[in-house]
Amino acid sequence: KLPLKFEIVNCSNYREVAEAIKSMKIRGAPAIGVAAAFGMVLAANSSKARTYQEFVQDIGKAKIYLAHTRPTAINLFWALERVMNLINIKKDVNLFELKDLILQEAKNIAQEDVEINKKIGRCGSLLIKDGDSILTHCNAGALATVGYGTALGVIRTALKEGKKLHVYVDETRPVLQGARLTAWELMRDKIPFTLITDNMAGFLMLKNKVNLVIVGADRIARNGDVVNKIGTYSLSILARENKIPFYVAAPLSTIDLSLKSGEEIPIEERDPDEVTHILGKQIAPTGTKAFNPAFDLTPHRYIGAIITEKGIIRKPYEKNIKKIFIS
Ligand code: MRU
Repeated sequence: KLPLKFEIVNCSNYREVAEAIKSMKIRGAPAIGVAAAFGMVLAANSSKARTYQEFVQDIGKAKIYLAHTRPTAINLFWALERVMNLINIKKDVNLFELKDLILQEAKNIAQEDVEINKKIGRCGSLLIKDGDSILTHCNAGALATVGYGTALGVIRTALKEGKKLHVYVDETRPVLQGARLTAWELMRDKIPFTLITDNMAGFLMLKNKVNLVIVGADRIARNGDVVNKIGTYSLSILARENKIPFYVAAPLSTIDLSLKSGEEIPIEERDPDEVTHILGKQIAPTGTKAFNPAFDLTPHRYIGAIITEKGIIRKPYEKNIKKIFIS
């Protein structure tokens, strides 16, 4: 309900968590991963299983249910897998203790997310100069993570280090994460920003009002191709044309090493009503056909650097991504 209303949604079972993810009450790649891990905690706690096998069956069902919410962000599957791996390893502990361990694992995932974001912030800040004017898209901030942000985390850190910055916020149609969430966060944290509609970005770059772009990511293939909020690809082209660096900030858990290129990343298509309507108000004639891919693919050649918690990855991405995982 942001930016006009702030409400906390309480979920008391894993189905409610899944609904919250699907309807985007909680969104942003890292945040949905953490939410899904806590969904597994709720599933574990409500399980009436008496044996380990029965328990695994119950949790397996919950895992499938939670996994069928949003297909693009890898963090969701990564977090579910991490909880499942723990369950597979701890075959020998009693169910009471196992439930406790699952809770602990979800808490760890949440806590690590904040620490990882701060590390991304410190690495990314090296790329930011005093006086920079930064364009960001969608919301890759506290509202998309446990509390600090990836792209906005970099901006937060640079500001903390004393650099003066200005942020241009793309409104990010159709769901308006920029106007509703990023603007709300930046306003709350007193970070100077200007809101623009998505189609203004090119003109701003042409007029030298923006000298850097930083976005988050929902999934990165092992060749460095990035899938992020729809509109990211166009920004990368505009940045290239205007000789402006284009950076992606994301935790390593967003990199899907199993995928050779971004072509293999599933792109969620959402209800066309999000395009024909804005905040529930119809803006197109009744019966208008609309297309609504929620994400797009930015080929790695347009990306100046991928900022992770373990450092800044540059081209050639395939080689350097591999290197960072084994370092
Ligand atoms: O559809 P959303 O709002 O979940 O999409 C979010 C994004 O595309 C973010 O840029 C991405 O998840 C990174 S959030 C740190």
